[in-house]
Amino acid sequence: MSSSTSSQGVVDRVQNFVSEHKHAVLIGTAAALVAIGGVAYYASSSSSGPRGDVEKGEGKKDKKKGKKKKTAKDEDGPILEERKPKASAVEEEEPNYTAEDIARMSEEERTKAAASLKAKGNAAYQQRKFATAIDYYTRAIAVTPKPEPVFFSNRAACYVNLNPPQHEKVVEDCDQALALDKNYLKALNRRATALEALDRLEEALRDFTAAAILDKFQNMAAAESVERVLKKLATKKAQEIYASREKRLPSYMFTSAYFGAFRPRPLPELPENPSQGDQTLRMALEALGASDYAHAFTLVNEAIEQGISWDAGKAEALNLRGTFKFLMTDIDGAKEDFLKSLELDPSLTQTWVKIASVWMEQGDPKKAFECFDEAIKHNPNDPDIYYHRGQVLFIMNEFADAAENYTKSTELDDKFVFSHIQLAVAQYKSGDLAKSMATFRRTLKAFPDRSEPQNYYGELLLDQQRYPDAVEKFDRAIEIERAKSTPMNVLPLVNKGLALFQWKQDIEAAEKCCQEALEIDPECEAAVATLAQLSLQQGKIDVALKMFDRQAQLARSEPELVNALTYQYATDAQVKFMQAYPEMAAQLGQMARMM
Ligand SMILES: *[C@@H]1O[C@H](CO)[C@@H](O)[C@H](O)[C@H]1NC(C)=O
Ligand SMILES: *[C@@H]1O[C@H](CO)[C@@H](O)[C@H](O)[C@H]1NC(C)=O
Repeated sequence: MSSSTSSQGVVDRVQNFVSEHKHAVLIGTAAALVAIGGVAYYASSSSSGPRGDVEKGEGKKDKKKGKKKKTAKDEDGPILEERKPKASAVEEEEPNYTAEDIARMSEEERTKAAASLKAKGNAAYQQRKFATAIDYYTRAIAVTPKPEPVFFSNRAACYVNLNPPQHEKVVEDCDQALALDKNYLKALNRRATALEALDRLEEALRDFTAAAILDKFQNMAAAESVERVLKKLATKKAQEIYASREKRLPSYMFTSAYFGAFRPRPLPELPENPSQGDQTLRMALEALGASDYAHAFTLVNEAIEQGISWDAGKAEALNLRGTFKFLMTDIDGAKEDFLKSLELDPSLTQTWVKIASVWMEQGDPKKAFECFDEAIKHNPNDPDIYYHRGQVLFIMNEFADAAENYTKSTELDDKFVFSHIQLAVAQYKSGDLAKSMATFRRTLKAFPDRSEPQNYYGELLLDQQRYPDAVEKFDRAIEIERAKSTPMNVLPLVNKGLALFQWKQDIEAAEKCCQEALEIDPECEAAVATLAQLSLQQGKIDVALKMFDRQAQLARSEPELVNALTYQYATDAQVKFMQAYPEMAAQLGQMARMM
């Protein structure tokens, strides 16, 4: 629905234009790991001292023993660690120790034998004799008196290089290595890579996240891996959820915004002897007029089942049912209804406009524009056509053409507030600030009782960082909305919270605004999304997770769902990290707070 051409366009589009800004201020960029990205930025811009050798991914000892060891270890290959003792040890042939042999050996002898076997394993690895190397490491593991994580991690590296790679074995060995040393970066990265190959994405994300944090975000590859796995995971889950989810109508606000993007039309005249279906259709249209959407949906379905006696009526009914299907993201079903509707009554321009949205949704703007042309042929003076064509052009960033089309729509009917607002926004987007402000001021004057011009003008002011002016506009919009008899649009309330946050870093006030918005409209996605980000900023991870979950439930389209799930999984991986590495939690929390 993201690219639909309807008034939701206004809500969404204009919201987006602010949300670019919103995301910049709150933590990170949209679908890219918010928290991690933010922390990464902070950590890398303020880290003390050079960490040039980190790319080599040194083993565990490095961490504990500090810098002295580094020079020696730098001789090590980039893949395997600890190739000492020196090559001379490799010369001697190592016996194949039996359990009895091992039982007879002293601890010292066993340690020496293990080190020697490992050295041979490393040498074999360097020669790409991976099966041989595996055998040496296996023997080293058997003979060593004290389990060494590096034996397992190195053997895992061999399993990776077998043809085909044995990812399960890699995971098993890295499990062992990490049980012995949970800060072992190479083992973490190896396991993560194997888990990703096995499509065990949640676990892969857990490991990559831990690796990125343990590495203090110095390693770009780790951050990129987190991002890549997050995207795969969120996309996969979104598809699953989306396919199994029951289709339902979006929130009241969304639905009413959609229908509100079309000028009201008189009810169709019923035939002289209306059938029962004809009468039900009329009731459906009346329910629609009263903004009783659920009822209108039931009635229009009933009417079609009962049978409508005249073609224009049938076309109206199919137009309405198709619209509901479209809103429920049943795009194919919507298309079918719209096509039938146009067959019965090609002069119904509204259906042409709506089927244009279907084509946009299906990624075919050329077809969409043909529909607008067709609609104009039937009624060149229908202002809806130009408004919606403007919306499509707006989405395609064709702001000059969009502005022209909004203007044309306004010329035909200047009572429709959204064509004024969208004109102002299009002017703003094409960089003409003065014109945009003038359009807004004219619109404010022409629609003193509408909250929308106040709200969207406020967003523009917010974008300009004119905070007091923005808050004043939002306050006025809230006042108008509160006085209405129809359900309140809480968007200005959310915007006010955002403005207070950006202006004074007043998180508490921002939260209060969003919470109030949610009390009034529990389905307000903007409030949920903003609250989630604010909670994350304060390290209230549990609240943030709850909000991301709610955001996922409210998400209408697959991309929106992917977006919410991305946040959810990114946060969840960090929670898991904090549980597994409690000693790092304080540090992470501190970094998060300083973002
Ligand atoms: C060592 O012994 C094991 C089992 O007894 C056997 O599978 C392996 O091939 C032997 N390796 C060498 C190098 O003799
Ligand atoms: C509207 O947009 C179309 C492009 O689709 C453009 O050709 C036309 O000139 C614009 N203006 C009007 C008034 O239709």
